[in-house]
Amino acid sequence: MKKLILAISLVSSAGILANTAAADELALAKKSGCLACHAIDKKIVGPGWKAVSDRYKGKGAKADLIAKVKAGGKGSWTEVTRGVPMPPYSPRVSDANIEKLVDFILAL
Ligand code: HEC
Repeated sequence: MKKLILAISLVSSAGILANTAAADELALAKKSGCLACHAIDKKIVGPGWKAVSDRYKGKGAKADLIAKVKAGGKGSWTEVTRGVPMPPYSPRVSDANIEKLVDFILAL
């Protein structure tokens, strides 16, 4: 029984840690202005970030996505956005924070 309780508390504290990390990244996304156009699970102006992750996860797209967030652009989600462009974020958002945001999106 003790072991079971220990196991449950380990699992739930890992969950809390993961949520805290996600909350930090979401706060960064909000502070950076991303959430004006993006949500996790639905389109706002830009595609939902879960959809972005589903498209690119595990395909070595990290550098391309970082470049897109830095310089902006359009054409990848025209069927979702009807051609609205993603604005450029460099140097408004630091390179380190852009990488953090892309890592967060790809981990969704
Ligand atoms: C003014 C609205 C707007 C804001 C603000 C915005 N985005 Fe976007 N984002 C878009 C649109 C529109 C697209 C789709 C672009 C396309 O079709 O290629 C997009 C696409 C993306 C993509 C996918 C790129 C691709 O090539 O598939 C990522 C990743 C992304 N945004 C991250 C971010 C991050 C991180 C921020 C904040 C630093 C942010 N966006 C802020 C509108 C926005």
